[in-house]
Amino acid sequence: MPDPILDRARQHQAELTEIRRDIHAHPELGMEEYRTSEIVARKLAEWGIEVHRNVGKTGVVGVLRNGNGRASVGLRADMDALPMQEATGLPHASTVPNRMHACGHDGHTAMLLGAAKVLAETRNFNGTVNFIFQPAEEGLGGAEAMIKDGLFARFPCDAVFGMHNSPGLPLGEFTVSPGAAMAGCAFFDIVITGKGAHGAHPQQSIDPVVVACHVGTALQSIVSRNVSPNDTAVLSVTRVHSGDAYNVIPQTASLGGTVRAMKSEIMDLVKTNMLRVATHVAAGFGAEAGVDFRILFPPLVNDASELKIAADAAATVVGEDRIDRNRASVMASEDFAFMMNLVPGGHIRIGNGADSAAVHNQLYDFNDEAIPYGVAVYAKIAESKLPRDTES
Ligand code: NI
Repeated sequence: MPDPILDRARQHQAELTEIRRDIHAHPELGMEEYRTSEIVARKLAEWGIEVHRNVGKTGVVGVLRNGNGRASVGLRADMDALPMQEATGLPHASTVPNRMHACGHDGHTAMLLGAAKVLAETRNFNGTVNFIFQPAEEGLGGAEAMIKDGLFARFPCDAVFGMHNSPGLPLGEFTVSPGAAMAGCAFFDIVITGKGAHGAHPQQSIDPVVVACHVGTALQSIVSRNVSPNDTAVLSVTRVHSGDAYNVIPQTASLGGTVRAMKSEIMDLVKTNMLRVATHVAAGFGAEAGVDFRILFPPLVNDASELKIAADAAATVVGEDRIDRNRASVMASEDFAFMMNLVPGGHIRIGNGADSAAVHNQLYDFNDEAIPYGVAVYAKIAESKLPRDTES
């Protein structure tokens, strides 16, 4: 028999769908989620939950206590949209040009709000639930902003749990990836400085275009020759810029791209090798290379026992046959990794439907039918972490 928490979550589907579509129609970029966080704060307060605004600028934390237990859990969702143009043509499509909820953070916010409402009603737990609504998941540092603002000092959590929708995964299904589940991410820029000259007089130049081509090719040896075959890394040069004229050898050329790795030490290894390869290849041609290597996210590493809590919660809600407990890790990254670096946690993926467009695609939309499943699993995680019969 299915757990009654799913039926309870379904009772709020209409209200949560309305909230989700309202947020979808009014997307806000990272650190600018003023309207969204106002909705979140207002709803939490309406349901009798203690609200803390402006945690990490536009972040919101809701605190719900029950019983006398001292245990605590953090449930986290993200609120930001992306700088891209929506092309769904849906009635609730973005009303803001070049702003779109193309990663489903509108749905994540609605699901965590739903869990807050359900837990505030049922209070089938003993301890403290912290509902963490973070700004700026998409590379603008929202998790770090909340942490620097004292997130875990002000709202201590024994464990933290996050959820992300997964296009292509059928509705009502969940997956988790044990251990390192999502990659660490870095962006890099390499500026090659040579010596400009007339295009017909190359002997007067140090051609930065030739150097950039050699550097770009040499970088590809790092993953294949420096990283162990037992480890995983990606190095993609995605930008090559130089020159404006057909008959001018330019002064500079630039390369840019991204690195992904499942371990922080592998990211450091790629960085060290990139600095050496770029500067020495350039020096070999008499040019100079400046390397700017920026680590944006650490790898997201699941705690084994907390991940089991999340997977078991999903199994309770939808049945063991609808959860994949051994999904392969992905090279995409997740800002929640900063929180999971400080507090043990679990990250779970929820099906957005087999026919869903991919995230970060112009035709993507969060699937409102997924809301009750996400609400129920978030709430079940809290109940599992804070059982009523335990005094602590
Ligand atoms: Ni996302």
